[in-house]
Amino acid sequence: MVERIGVIGAGYVGLTSAACFTHLGHDVVCVDSDQSKVDELNRGEVAIAEPGLAELVRDGLICGRLLFSTKTDGLAAVDVVLLCLPTPQGEGGDADVRALEEVVTGLPGLLTPGCVVVTKSTVPVGTGNRLPELLGDADLPVVGNPEFLREGHAVEDFLRPERIVLGSRDEDRPAAERVAALYRGIDAPVWFTDPASAELAKYASNAFLAMKLSYVNTLAELCEHHGADIRAVGRLIGLDSRIGPAFLRPGPGWGGSCLPKDTAALVRTAERAGVDFGMLRDVLKANARHQSAVVRKIRLAITGATDGSLTGTRIGLLGLAFKAGTGDLRDSPALAIAGELARSGAILTGYDPGVASAAPDIVQVVDDPYLVAKDAEALVVLTEWPEFRELDWARLAAATDQAIVVDTRNLLDPAAVGEAGFTVIGLGTAAQG
Ligand code: UGA
Repeated sequence: MVERIGVIGAGYVGLTSAACFTHLGHDVVCVDSDQSKVDELNRGEVAIAEPGLAELVRDGLICGRLLFSTKTDGLAAVDVVLLCLPTPQGEGGDADVRALEEVVTGLPGLLTPGCVVVTKSTVPVGTGNRLPELLGDADLPVVGNPEFLREGHAVEDFLRPERIVLGSRDEDRPAAERVAALYRGIDAPVWFTDPASAELAKYASNAFLAMKLSYVNTLAELCEHHGADIRAVGRLIGLDSRIGPAFLRPGPGWGGSCLPKDTAALVRTAERAGVDFGMLRDVLKANARHQSAVVRKIRLAITGATDGSLTGTRIGLLGLAFKAGTGDLRDSPALAIAGELARSGAILTGYDPGVASAAPDIVQVVDDPYLVAKDAEALVVLTEWPEFRELDWARLAAATDQAIVVDTRNLLDPAAVGEAGFTVIGLGTAAQG
């Protein structure tokens, strides 16, 4: 059945949901308070760089089933409204739900009785049981439907999800089934559960991924000590189907707008419940500690000592974003490492295909990868952009002072880059070019 869907918030989650539900054949009105953003979107201009998203938005506009508006009156006609509002990290690690609560309090005046209220963005555990109180006696059933979209794969993850999760109170189960029906044509397991389980599943997934990454990053340090190779160790443990092969690549630390925020929020949730989730607190600490270990590794490579002085040392950074395929600098480990290097007196130049500038001003961002090598004592690969492999490494070597590259993503082919004149230092690998 074609439904009329309202989406509140035209950010990353809201826009992806609006475009994808239109693609699935529904009529969607997406409301955002930012007039210039709404105007741009109605012209088909999509500022969020997600593969396939702009095309879906334009298709939706052309067929007249997708509309963006700052006005909320269109919401009176919708059957389902998706709340896609930011829940950033607030005081003490908790998610800040003020924007969400303000909108929810106003919903009874905007929606028609029977309309299903769906929380799509990540909401603190307990929200689904609290929202009905905020909605008063309005007949507005509430369903939690967390998203599991990765940046750079949002459309693909929305249209080919590994699971669809619907959390509702028993009395709202028919509403949850109505939300499930919106995903018609999508082949994925659909799980009906209670609100708290749906909310917890979202946090628990991201925190588990963070834990897996810190485990492998720390293991990489141990590999270095013993002359083992994390690539082999990762592959061998990943062959155990109970562990699985994904998320076993070591790096400079994990970051982005979700893993750090959600892990911190789950720690707070546990604290409030009186549950000692010290293991997760350690995961947060391990990530910060690992970033400092990477800095010591860079120091050692350049100066021969882990506490060697970097004052006035030029270092070229390849990659600044928290992962490849995005220009997102939020909680990027690359920037944390750059910050530590800059505080130690290093002079930093950085290149990232997705980043034009970075604040605070610790890195001079350039638009040519070969400029980062100019007079540099070392290059450091911090983001796993595949195109870094294809650079002319002999040209880079010729521009540097000391041809050293610290590859924190084990992205490069050490033999080829070594052949080009570099000393290649990987992470958790004894192999050097
Ligand atoms: C993450 C989750 O993967 C999504 O499932 C979730 O929906 C999303 O958060 C969210 O809550 O909205 P994302 O923030 O896009 O997605 O980032 P990931 O792809 O998970 O990468 C996180 C970090 O782990 C990055 O810094 C990445 O470089 C690092 N990483 C990942 C590694 O260092 N090694 C790996 O093997 C994999």
